[in-house]
Amino acid sequence: SAAEKGGHDYFMLKEIAEQPKAVADTLLGRLTPQGRLRLDEMRLSHDELREIDKIVIIACGSAFYAGLTAKYAIEHWTRIPCEVELSSEFRYRDPILNRATLVIAISQSGETMDTLMALRHAREQRARVLAICNTNGSTIPRESDAVLYTHAGPEVGVAATKTFLTQVVACYLIGLYLAQVRESKFGDEVAAEVDQLDRMPAAVRAVLGTMADIRALARELATAKSVLFIGRHVGYPVALEGALKLKELAYMHAEAFAAGELKHGPIALIEEGLPVVVVVPPRGRDVLHDKIVSNVQEIRARGARTIVLAEEGDESVVPWADTLIRLPRVPTLLQPLVATVPLQIFACELAMARGNDVDQPRNLAKSVTVE
Ligand code: G6P
Repeated sequence: SAAEKGGHDYFMLKEIAEQPKAVADTLLGRLTPQGRLRLDEMRLSHDELREIDKIVIIACGSAFYAGLTAKYAIEHWTRIPCEVELSSEFRYRDPILNRATLVIAISQSGETMDTLMALRHAREQRARVLAICNTNGSTIPRESDAVLYTHAGPEVGVAATKTFLTQVVACYLIGLYLAQVRESKFGDEVAAEVDQLDRMPAAVRAVLGTMADIRALARELATAKSVLFIGRHVGYPVALEGALKLKELAYMHAEAFAAGELKHGPIALIEEGLPVVVVVPPRGRDVLHDKIVSNVQEIRARGARTIVLAEEGDESVVPWADTLIRLPRVPTLLQPLVATVPLQIFACELAMARGNDVDQPRNLAKSVTVE
């Protein structure tokens, strides 16, 4: 009913709107005013946490892209090597696991069979398994050594939205907690990062308030054949998630590339009028930002219709952007939490313009309990 959807036409729209609260709820009780993290759920002693020499994230679908995003943050903060693998591929490659491996299984439903089988394989090899899950008491947390719940609330729309954001947040909490416990080189900066994380619900609320242009664009592109997405660093998994949303909801060909790979092949796809979404990282001291600005120039010169997501105040992209979507200014590693939101809305609006049921896309199930 309309009441269940909180006045929205679809659960998905309601769930997109709930993201500031979902992120706040996932942080709730886990940050202390002293800028420390309290993750009692980890259930591994500090000694055990110090012994970890490798992290392996296993997940499917959007949860996999949350894991890909987390790898950048976890390796940066902890200096522990972190691999991310699709659950359905994991056990078939005979992965190297032992007591010092921390396997993080990310699953909204906690029932995804591919992820469950991968985690069983990990436990057989004596790895420690930590679940990130949104569903209390589901199978994956029950079979794990410990669980960190994302407190996103029930998600009805088949395509993940608020659970994706909260999965990223949960992974970041684990990364920062490991940095804190292990007193990594980065340990001193944990307080500053915790403070930044605490500001994310407001940043997500801000981005939700500025979505009129992306909605209008989506309606204009309703008959497009294909949309490409490019990004670098954490902008790359954001691009992947944006493309997945478009496939799932709009039944449209969409593909994401690491922007640096364009020149190694995909740039041949660019033709007059092809929509290309570009996720531009914040202007930092590094070369990341400038590299992507050149990518935007390259594709625009070849006729692409550029849809550029860039932070407030970044004027460098203005001449090359057919449509410019502004993002709040946040640190690079946290940008996925704001950059994903316009891409969810883009896919949802485009799918509605094509007459699709965005809550129940064809051929998909919310939780896939077969391998
Ligand atoms: C299904 C859903 C996706 C979801 C994936 C993983 O395919 O349609 O939206 O990302 O499963 O689900 P999980 O519950 O394990 O996060």
